[in-house]
Amino acid sequence: MQDRYGMIGVQVADGICRVTLDRPEKLNALTYAFWTDLVQLLAEAEADDAVRVLVIHGAGSHFCAGGDIEGFGELGDIPARRRYQKLAFDAFRAFEVFAKPTIAAVHGYALGGGCELTMVTDLVVCDTTARFGTPEAAVGLMPGLGVVRGHANTNLHWLKQMIFTGARLDAEDARLAGLVTTIAPEGQHLDEALRMAAEVASRPATALRVAKAILNRGSGEGYDYSLEATALLHSTDDQREGVAAFKERRQPTFSDR
Ligand code: COA
Repeated sequence: MQDRYGMIGVQVADGICRVTLDRPEKLNALTYAFWTDLVQLLAEAEADDAVRVLVIHGAGSHFCAGGDIEGFGELGDIPARRRYQKLAFDAFRAFEVFAKPTIAAVHGYALGGGCELTMVTDLVVCDTTARFGTPEAAVGLMPGLGVVRGHANTNLHWLKQMIFTGARLDAEDARLAGLVTTIAPEGQHLDEALRMAAEVASRPATALRVAKAILNRGSGEGYDYSLEATALLHSTDDQREGVAAFKERRQPTFSDR
């Protein structure tokens, strides 16, 4: 495997592939290229016998603040916006069906696409600084993956609260909601995830692969529908206004009220 795929750093040791979202100056916001880079990384990790389990975490003070909102303004016409959404959905799906176990180690913000990445990760550990949220409506969007897969982890009320109000769940509420199972002391999320990964890596790979495939059965349902709906939302006036307001650091004025 390479040690870098765009904004993603990779280290493989002792059966564990450590994947680092590494764009800390932008809170690890996910670039356009991220999605294809992630798919390539996953394909290579799947083929590499040295990898038995994958751990994903964020560099700096946060896990990930979601899709690159500033880049949304450069996406061009509606077909280009749909292509972007398809790349993102394909990458989420590739992550979800990756044949080896995955663990997210979360600290700080896990927002938007960052929170959604945790939803398609098998196990989620966080520290006490973690804040999970799906604030996409603030930029005229919805969490396209979250509306399809989120309720596999949380119940509908928690998910609707996150989507409709933009609520950010702290570590305890995230555990209550089902987004995370283990809370580590501040700064120890990665150590805890690596400890868990070593335990997972010691188990027979085929047993885990088969269990994962069965547990994930039916999980691809709804992706296509949500892809089209998200692409449509990417072409509204309110999405443009939300993105402009984010860039200009002001409150948006939405027309669809
Ligand atoms: N896309 C692009 N850039 C982002 C980003 C995103 N999703 N989230 C943060 N950044 C950038 C900021 O623009 C800023 O860049 P700058 O220093 O060049 O101005 C930098 O990361 C630090 O973020 P900042 O907003 O200054 O930090 P903060 O502590 O005041 O606020 C957040 C942190 C996460 C609350 C805020 O950045 C935010 O709301 N981000 C968007 C989250 C979101 O809506 N995600 C879903 C996207 S659909």
